Amino acid sequence: MSSMEGKRPSESQITLTQLMGPTDANTLGNVHGGFIMKLCDEAGGMAATKHARRPAVTVAVDSMAFHSPVSIGNLMTVRADVTWVGRTSMETRVVVTAENVITGDVTHTNTAYFVYVALDADGRPVSVPPLILESEEEKARFERAANRQAVRLQRRHQEEL
Ligand SMILES: CC(C)(COP(=O)(O)OP(=O)(O)OC[C@H]1O[C@@H](n2cnc3c(N)ncnc32)[C@H](O)[C@@H]1OP(=O)(O)O)[C@@H](O)C(=O)NCCC(=O)NCCS
Repeated sequence: MSSMEGKRPSESQITLTQLMGPTDANTLGNVHGGFIMKLCDEAGGMAATKHARRPAVTVAVDSMAFHSPVSIGNLMTVRADVTWVGRTSMETRVVVTAENVITGDVTHTNTAYFVYVALDADGRPVSVPPLILESEEEKARFERAANRQAVRLQRRHQEEL
């Protein structure tokens, strides 16, 4: 398949699942937010890399809020999907959940949005394949992602002024 043929979000989706241990947590037994952020970046980066089949670097991360804790002994799942692509940039939506494997309760920890840029062999931004959107949900996500990206670029412009 040519690298510039369109790809569906399902073709690059990533799911990381990890059992949380004491070394990942604070003294209350809650997993560090920074550790969760790192896994989100890894999952998002892998989804973007799979979409582009190129190395992808993080260029922007939206603010993150943690709605409920991940505790020692929980099974944490980090799922990343490509929601939008520009010319060289890609947005990924990362959803984090924590499962208590004894009770089966699953809680939503946070949803995060990361933007990556695909790089060529010289480290310059390079075009990525278009995103094939099939479901109404994927189309709606793409629209919302495009709006977020416009806000990010406006913020970037203001920061540069
Ligand atoms: C990513 C990087 C190569 C982009 O370089 P650049 O000179 O800004 O390149 P461009 O202006 O051509 O932007 C490239 C793409 O990134 C997008 N972009 C740039 N800044 C952005 C921001 N703050 N938010 C969202 N998207 C951004 C641009 O819109 C463009 O997307 P498009 O091609 O889809 O239109 C450069 O900023 C970089 O090396 N950053 C450091 C990356 C890094 O080390 N990350 C952490 C470790 S992985």
